[in-house]
Amino acid sequence: MTMKEKIQQLKVQFDQEISKILDPTALAGLEIKYLGRKAGQLTKILRSLKDIPEKERREIGQLANSVKQEIESKLKAVRKSISGRARNEEWLDVTLPGEPMPEGHLHLVTQAIGEIVEIFEAIGFSRRRYPEVEWDYYAFESLNMPPEHPARDEWETFFIDSKPVGPKGQRVLTPHTSSGQVREMERKKPPIRMMNISKCYRRQIDVSHLPMFHQFEGLLIDKNVTIAHLKGTLDYFVKQFFGPARKARIRPSHFQFTEPSFEVDVSCGLCNGRGCKMCKGGWLELGGAGMVHPNVLKAGKVDPKKYSGLAFGWGVERSYLMKAGLSIPDIRLLYGNDLRFLNQF
Ligand code: DAH
Repeated sequence: MTMKEKIQQLKVQFDQEISKILDPTALAGLEIKYLGRKAGQLTKILRSLKDIPEKERREIGQLANSVKQEIESKLKAVRKSISGRARNEEWLDVTLPGEPMPEGHLHLVTQAIGEIVEIFEAIGFSRRRYPEVEWDYYAFESLNMPPEHPARDEWETFFIDSKPVGPKGQRVLTPHTSSGQVREMERKKPPIRMMNISKCYRRQIDVSHLPMFHQFEGLLIDKNVTIAHLKGTLDYFVKQFFGPARKARIRPSHFQFTEPSFEVDVSCGLCNGRGCKMCKGGWLELGGAGMVHPNVLKAGKVDPKKYSGLAFGWGVERSYLMKAGLSIPDIRLLYGNDLRFLNQF
């Protein structure tokens, strides 16, 4: 047998043998048999090339090397398929711990909304959602702010670029959830206990303001509703949401749609109301509140002589950060979708 025939035969023999290999140990044996450094059959041939007459050496050498490459790549392919099979079998081993899937969770604002809803549902408020694209009428006019009223300037409103339609006026992106008050009175006669939680939009963006944020609005209308009910409701919320040691405080303020109007403060959780650099003299500002203005009741066809109401509204993002005791250097982080930030909540 010539050297050339020997190599060709070796290849045929290898192909037959590898086709029967089923497990990694047999495969390793086969590799040693052909390519083993000391006594591999092909290794020996390659080593003996130097003894071949020069004019044949080139051709034989090329053949031997190409067979070697072929053997190597077949070994590799079989190794891969065997280990694949092995993995498939292990998959059936129910005792192996699974590979954990990366797990997401609700965004912190969604979590906050869930908590707030639960707290108020417990005292009979039910959640409503009123439009984000809203008529001027519900956002301002029905809330005791006739067209051109200067108080409207407090809300840096986005106007929709469309012609005013009928008595409801221009379309706007609602700048506050108070726009749900008269809508709720139109939907239902008193007694009313609603919470309107929704996105709000204002022309503002900096470290403490977002053009899109969430507000929470509570509205209660019934006979003989007083400031005592308002104070009690706020106290209840503050204790449930922030913790039993926290207190609510109301301060006189002004809103067109409430009379009297208040700012609501929560006692600071860090200094317990003593005053520290996180708060203003022991208190943190939560949002607005008041007794529903008779003009607003009238707009909702509720008789102010028979009924009175309380209302309150504040930012969801702000409340949540206050609860977590966080002072975030830049509120835009909340919507930056950076998982390193979001995963902490
Ligand atoms: N809508 C007000 C704002 O966005 C907040 C507010 C104040 C809501 C007093 C109320 C309220 O319901 O009674 O600034």
